Amino acid sequence: MAVGIFDSGLGGLTVYDAVSASLPDVPIVYYGDNLHAPYGVRDAQDVFELTDKAVKHLWENGCNLVILACNTASAAALRRMQEAGVPRGKRVLGVFVPLIEALTERQWGDNSPPREVSVKNVALFATPATVASRAFQRELAFRAIGVDVEAQACGGVVDAIEDGDMILAEALVRSHVDALTRKMPNADAAILGCTHYPLMEPIFQAALGDSVKVYSQANLVAASLVDYLKRHPEMIGEGTESQFLTTGNVATVSNNATQFLRRRIEFTAA
Ligand code: DGL
Repeated sequence: MAVGIFDSGLGGLTVYDAVSASLPDVPIVYYGDNLHAPYGVRDAQDVFELTDKAVKHLWENGCNLVILACNTASAAALRRMQEAGVPRGKRVLGVFVPLIEALTERQWGDNSPPREVSVKNVALFATPATVASRAFQRELAFRAIGVDVEAQACGGVVDAIEDGDMILAEALVRSHVDALTRKMPNADAAILGCTHYPLMEPIFQAALGDSVKVYSQANLVAASLVDYLKRHPEMIGEGTESQFLTTGNVATVSNNATQFLRRRIEFTAA
C-alpha cells in the first residue's frame, strides 16, 4: 500500500515533490487526470465525477489514503465524497485546511473557535471553479474573523502550464496579479490556491512585491501529512512501489513532468 496523490494534471507534482522529500520512505502513487485537465473551467458535477473515479482507482490499487492535491477537486468534490461515505480503512483529504491553518497560525488539526489573526487583507489566486465555490472563504470563516479576502480567477494559467508554455503562463500571472492589486492594493498575504501555481511562485512574488507574504501549498500539505501519518501510521501500509499514472499522453506528460521537477519522471497509463 502507498499514499495516493491526485491532481487534474501536473500541478499536484509540486505537492508530490514536497511530500516525497519529507517522507522519503513512503511509496507514493501519483495520478494525473491530464486527459481532462483543466478542471478549473468545468462545472462542479463534472469535477466531482472525475475526482470520484480517480480516487476510487487509487483506493482499489493499494492506497489507503488519497490526498486531493488539487484545490478545484477539493472545493467541488471532497465534502461530497466524505459525506457519501468512504470504504472502511480508506481516507481522502484535501489541500485547503493545511493552508488555512498556516495562514491563521494554528497547530495542525486545531478546531477551536474562530479568532482574530495577524493577516487582515488576503489576495486569493485560484482557478475559476475554486473562486466560484467560495470554499476558501468558508474554511477561513471557521478559523478566523476580520479577514478581508479578494479573489482573482486566474483563467488560462493552468492550460499554459499543462502545455508547457511558461512564457504565456508568466504573462497571464502578471496580468492576474495586476487585476487583483487594482481591487486590493494593500494585501498583506497572498494565497496560491491552485497546486499548479507554485511552479510560477517567483513570478507571483516579484509581481506582488516583497511586502506581500506568499503562501504556497506544497510544503504546508507535506508538513501536515507528516503529522497526520504520525498519528495514523496504519494509513501508510506496507507497499514499496511508487508510480506515476496519467490518463493523458504518456510521453508528453512524462516530458513536461521531467521539465518541472528537473529529474526524469516516467508516467504510465492509468
Ligand atoms: N491544480 C489544480 C488546483 O489546485 C487544478 C487546476 C485545473 O485543473 O484547473 O486547482
